[in-house]
Amino acid sequence: MSGSARAVAHSNIALAKYWGKADADKNLPAVPSLSMTLDSMSTTTSVGFGHGLEADRIVINGRPATGPEASRIVQMLDRVRQAADLRTRAWVETANDFPTASGLASSASGFAALALAAACAAGLKWEPARLSDLARRSSASAARSIFGGFVTLGAATGGVDFLAAEPIGGSDDWDVSLCVAVTTTAEKPVGSTAGMRLTASTSPYYGSWLGLAPQLYAQAKDAVERRDLEALGEAAEKSSLAMHACAIAGVPSVLYWNPTTVALIETVRDLRARGTLAFATIDAGPHVKVISKSSDAPLVVETVGRVPGVIRTLVARPGPAASVQLLRSGS
Ligand code: DP6
Repeated sequence: MSGSARAVAHSNIALAKYWGKADADKNLPAVPSLSMTLDSMSTTTSVGFGHGLEADRIVINGRPATGPEASRIVQMLDRVRQAADLRTRAWVETANDFPTASGLASSASGFAALALAAACAAGLKWEPARLSDLARRSSASAARSIFGGFVTLGAATGGVDFLAAEPIGGSDDWDVSLCVAVTTTAEKPVGSTAGMRLTASTSPYYGSWLGLAPQLYAQAKDAVERRDLEALGEAAEKSSLAMHACAIAGVPSVLYWNPTTVALIETVRDLRARGTLAFATIDAGPHVKVISKSSDAPLVVETVGRVPGVIRTLVARPGPAASVQLLRSGS
């Protein structure tokens, strides 16, 4: 077998957050989540299975991957090899078109692109839901990057094994923008997998989060279906603040914010007080993402860009589903 394929997947930002697992081994989320796929931040990944390779060879942004970063990728390749009944090793080349030093998470677009490229190179003709489930096993947020526009991922209920994200139909041309305010180039000290594990095992508020998150998810979903930016923004801010409040109360505290993060939350509140519909959301890092109408995005970018400590700003609109191209079919 010597097939190869190249896939492109876009990053996504959750507006109703996934934080906590129902089953860590199967990587099943404990709460449902809703995200927007971003048009301007993507990962391109090529995968080839080839005779003669003694081990999987992985290159990320031009440098060979090693350690845990490489083993997470090999794990997905192993799942694909098992499904396709393949024994050959693979080469993998992956690169992001957004600055890696920006500290923005690339695991969502990265594992979605890898799932698509590896499955296609191995000759598996899987529909998007199955690819989303494959991506989810490596990183749950990656399940959502298989689809474009606004996307949901359910929570795991009672012993399920298969769990895929689903797009919210007709949401990809909604004229909203997401402005990313980058506040550091440093690597985050605690990744999301470890951060949620610590939160679940030590935060006194984890139980409350599990109760609240599905309600905020339902509000966010309803708002996207009605194209109600204000209702979506309110649910998104609540979801992000509740997730962080819960994590911050962990022991030791899972605190992702820096002083600029807090200044940005205040700036977004000020923007709202002055009549601009803008809402903040924060992931497992100190950057702040602001959702607004596209026509307000220039004002949002200019305002958050002036906050001391903001290194750069990026703007994204709802982006497309992941796509794949077969480079060479297997023999
Ligand atoms: C805060 O998908 O990175 O971005 O499944 O352990 O790989 P793993 O976690 P990951 O967590 C993302 C957490 C988040 C919220 C979200 O994207 O829903």
